Amino acid sequence: MLSNGIIQAAYVIAALLFIFSLRGLSKQETAKTGNIYGIIGMAIALLATIAQLENGIYWVILAMVIGGAIGLYLAKKVEMTQMPELVALLHSFVGLAAVLVGFNSFLALNEFALMVSSNEIAVHLGEIFVGVFIGAVTFAGSIIAFGKLNGRISSKALVLPYKHYWNLAAIVVSIILLFAFLNTHSYGAALTYLIIMTVIAIVFGLHLVASIGGADMPVVISMLNSYSGWAAAAAGFMLDNDLLIVTGALVGSSGAILSYIMCKAMNRSFISVIAGGFGNSSKGASSADEEQGEYRELQPVEVAQILKDARSVIIVPGYGMAVAQAQSAVSNIVEKLRSMGIKVRFAIHPVAGRLPGHMNVLLAEAKVPYDIVLEMDEINEDFPETDVVWVIGANDTVNPAAAEDPNSPIAGMPVLEVWKAKNVVVSKRSMNTGYAGVQNPLFFKENSYMLFGDAKDSVEKVLQNL
Ligand code: TAP
Repeated sequence: MLSNGIIQAAYVIAALLFIFSLRGLSKQETAKTGNIYGIIGMAIALLATIAQLENGIYWVILAMVIGGAIGLYLAKKVEMTQMPELVALLHSFVGLAAVLVGFNSFLALNEFALMVSSNEIAVHLGEIFVGVFIGAVTFAGSIIAFGKLNGRISSKALVLPYKHYWNLAAIVVSIILLFAFLNTHSYGAALTYLIIMTVIAIVFGLHLVASIGGADMPVVISMLNSYSGWAAAAAGFMLDNDLLIVTGALVGSSGAILSYIMCKAMNRSFISVIAGGFGNSSKGASSADEEQGEYRELQPVEVAQILKDARSVIIVPGYGMAVAQAQSAVSNIVEKLRSMGIKVRFAIHPVAGRLPGHMNVLLAEAKVPYDIVLEMDEINEDFPETDVVWVIGANDTVNPAAAEDPNSPIAGMPVLEVWKAKNVVVSKRSMNTGYAGVQNPLFFKENSYMLFGDAKDSVEKVLQNL
């Protein structure tokens, strides 16, 4: 066994490495180094934790080998587009771990511990109760998020009558149970209160995420990310482990900041997301559901001609580019257009694709230069001076209904104003809607043309014709 001093020093180094890691991950150029800091930090944390064990080391190693093998297998197998589901599932594990740690910490106390009313015991019991509550909400909410993201559960918002009152009742009853838990001297009664609260927290978590619909899911994922951090921090308090507290707080607060950024990007308040809204059928009939008129279709050879005639082109990638794995083909066409003297840039919506930074990762992987990949705020005013916008597998993020139709379910969400360009080419396979299930009036505008087919196929055909 290592001395406590060495272990604490290792924890401080690991915590610092996690902070460097987060800093690195905040920019594409430094993301790889950030990842390496994270890996080294985690390796140090694991070694220091294992070195503290007095017994059971073989069980821990066995669990790590099994868990590591499953993790490696999943990480290799998972498609980029399935990443959010995997992340949601992993969040549920963190929640479950916090619940198990909580129950274990309680069961480790003996009956006499509850009889002596010391402040220390009261604080520890408080940590257990709050930790189990956060863990159970995270666990249940993440399972529903997982189901919604992989399509096993409908992405529509569940609207129960008096839903806000049910949520409020769950919180109030849990607080009453907390006081009863802290004040009882009976071990059996305390355990019963803990179990009842766990059941309530699980139902609360299930309902909380089930009642959030459609386009609000990105915020839910980052919100659950934040909850999983707080659940880990709560486990850290229960286990008296400083590193777990620091790491949990880092994850919890970065998830909260990300949720805030996403809410801002979608012009939504955090409270209204939690209370449910998008994806609800409560709004009036949207004009987007009405007859939209005619759309025009182009063949790859015609798209190639429009591109050749352009001086400036903006490409707007979306979820469809990710599904079709079209990023390399897109990168090749960008190189070709630039060699022809055409100015080409990318416009990235903050919630394009299915996870934060999804498009940036794909474009970086395809070696598209960083300096032509611009965020929505940096490029949204340039559309009127652009000759051609090529939308590749994006839909909700370029939907003018968000800006023009107050009855649209996505009204108010800032979108890339592509329709202001001279010509817009939209590559997708059909006239189907995007993630939010809302029809897109862009496809029927006078200056819009559809290029039907799988995104990779379409881009390759256009390239052949250039
Ligand atoms: P979406 O609105 O989801 O639309 C993607 C479009 O791609 C679909 O309309 C689909 O039309 C097309 N497509 C699918 N497969 C294709 C293929 N192989 N080739 C060509 N096209 C294909 O995409 P978006 O504009 O990127 O918006 C993202 C949406 O997801 C937003 O509503 C956002 O709120 C939500 N969301 C985002 C996140 C994060 S954090 N980014 C997380 C969860 C949800 P066809 O079927 O006609 O081909």
